[in-house]
Amino acid sequence: MSGWMMVKSSGRQLLRRGYATVAAPERKVAVLGAAGGIGQPLALLMKLNPLVSKLALYDIANTPGVAADVGHVNTRSEVTGYMGEDQLGQALEGSDVVIIPAGVPRKPGMTRDDLFNINAGIVKGLCTAIAKYCPDALVNMISNPVNSTVPIAAEVFKKAGVYDEKKLFGVTTLDVVRAKTFYAGKANVPVADVNVPVVGGHAGITILPLFSQATPTANLSDEDIKALTKRTQDGGTEVVEAKAGKGSATLSMAYAGAIFADACLKGLNGVPDVVECSFVQSTITELPFFASKVRLGKNGVEEVMGLGALSDFEKEGLEALKPELKASIEKGIKFANQS
Ligand code: 2OP
Repeated sequence: MSGWMMVKSSGRQLLRRGYATVAAPERKVAVLGAAGGIGQPLALLMKLNPLVSKLALYDIANTPGVAADVGHVNTRSEVTGYMGEDQLGQALEGSDVVIIPAGVPRKPGMTRDDLFNINAGIVKGLCTAIAKYCPDALVNMISNPVNSTVPIAAEVFKKAGVYDEKKLFGVTTLDVVRAKTFYAGKANVPVADVNVPVVGGHAGITILPLFSQATPTANLSDEDIKALTKRTQDGGTEVVEAKAGKGSATLSMAYAGAIFADACLKGLNGVPDVVECSFVQSTITELPFFASKVRLGKNGVEEVMGLGALSDFEKEGLEALKPELKASIEKGIKFANQS
């Protein structure tokens, strides 16, 4: 949000750009799975976001404690904890953005797809409630396998007659965060200046960082690019292995989720030129869902942007990822329509 800043005047939150000052609108954000490993730091990061006026923390257990804890932080939003399915509706009502990190994480040796059997059902239930209580909200899907849970959500919303492809997002921001960090280290450039689009999906080889488009440019060898690509694709597994059975990325995932939710809120608030990569309904390849740069606006997706020029290595990566991504999308659609 370059050029914009939050200011506080007589207790009101204001957005200021240059000489124009506008009141920051009321925005409710719900976090589903707020007491979990990702949910707790994500709740804190959303509490720090001045664009949020109401923060609803939902989980099947332990939310009163998390809400009391986060609620003491002296920032704008009013925090409420909701526990158990009979409070899910209240948590969701009036939400502008719903972030879903609910579900189980990976253990060493597991792929994201190994989580399908548990997380698919959890996501289906939560999306059924979203369709009922806040069908207009932007949904930020973090629960894995994202390549399947986003299509599941789409099918649930279609069945309920509320599907709007502009409002459903798979959060792939952590792939971008990792690509930026690894590139900055290898290229020896300040990480804060780095931009790298990451396209495809959010699992293994379906994660395709486009280092040929990375800025600032650096003269990296083909071997360096291959190694950076592999490390980005395996970034989640690197964390799973380092945690040795205690789960997958939580802190960096929460950071990435907070960045993406912030971008959604800025888009809703009419901030111009908000662009993030996300796994969305797409026509830029033959696959029905695909991650690419997306322009965010007042209704969610304003524009799904194209891939730009790809190197030969990236073109190969793109073709290689399609069968796996297609299978994961189809698995999600089949699950949603069967169960
Ligand atoms: C990751 O990439 C948790 O899927 C998440 O680490």
